[in-house]
Amino acid sequence: MKTQNKKPLLIANWKMNPPSAKEALALAKKVDQGIKNISDVQVVLCPPFVYIPIFHAEKFNFLLGAQNCFWQKQGAFTGEISPAMLKNLGCSHVIIGHSERKNYLSETYEVIRQKVKASLDVGLIPVVCIGEKAQGSPNAKRELELQMQILLADISRTQSSKIVLVYEPEWAISSVKGVQAATPQDCEAAISFMKEVLARKWGEASAKGIHILYGGSVRKENIREFIEKGGADGALVGAASLNAQEFVSLVKESILG
Ligand code: PGA
Repeated sequence: MKTQNKKPLLIANWKMNPPSAKEALALAKKVDQGIKNISDVQVVLCPPFVYIPIFHAEKFNFLLGAQNCFWQKQGAFTGEISPAMLKNLGCSHVIIGHSERKNYLSETYEVIRQKVKASLDVGLIPVVCIGEKAQGSPNAKRELELQMQILLADISRTQSSKIVLVYEPEWAISSVKGVQAATPQDCEAAISFMKEVLARKWGEASAKGIHILYGGSVRKENIREFIEKGGADGALVGAASLNAQEFVSLVKESILG
């Protein structure tokens, strides 16, 4: 069983929810209240871009993150948001390479690689999603390794302490009807493999320092297992982060002891 050697990191990915600023603020305030006395878990909330300035002004107890960014610093890129803009609005983290962006917006590994680099360059922590497409795929390890090789290609050993990785198998994300979370055993196997890949790239000591989270149908009922048995240092939470009570319970459940 795992001893908790890193503070758990829980990242709420609100995706394209909720529809109004009023609802977003109400939800954020509830989460803020619920976690205000919890110092054993690092909570990051990633709302849609448009709510970031509102949350920044509130000085909440959680850290602020975004769900995407562009790879260029500034210029004629209609509709895009630069890493520096996010940093200047108080973001500490940015989710990069979520599978929904790969699938709906054809985001490629090459694009994701550039976004990882661009966010590190301005001091944002990239939360890099990695995961195989199909459940039980015999090539899953090869897929994970290939993704890591491409996405982390520009990162130096020194910068490696500034990234967060998420093992997020696409088949376990709750937006697909009827899916189930990976088992803690699936998670443990993937995360230990990812650690091997990191150790080969940057050495054992650096690899050990990197947070690797699990993502995909995380709930208050299963978060503990992913940390205790699955080798995860926390989680990227989608649907369950849209209910303040559920998310706060999930945060509490992630503290082992
Ligand atoms: P889920 O989403 O928790 O709703 O499965 C996770 C994610 O897509 O980041």
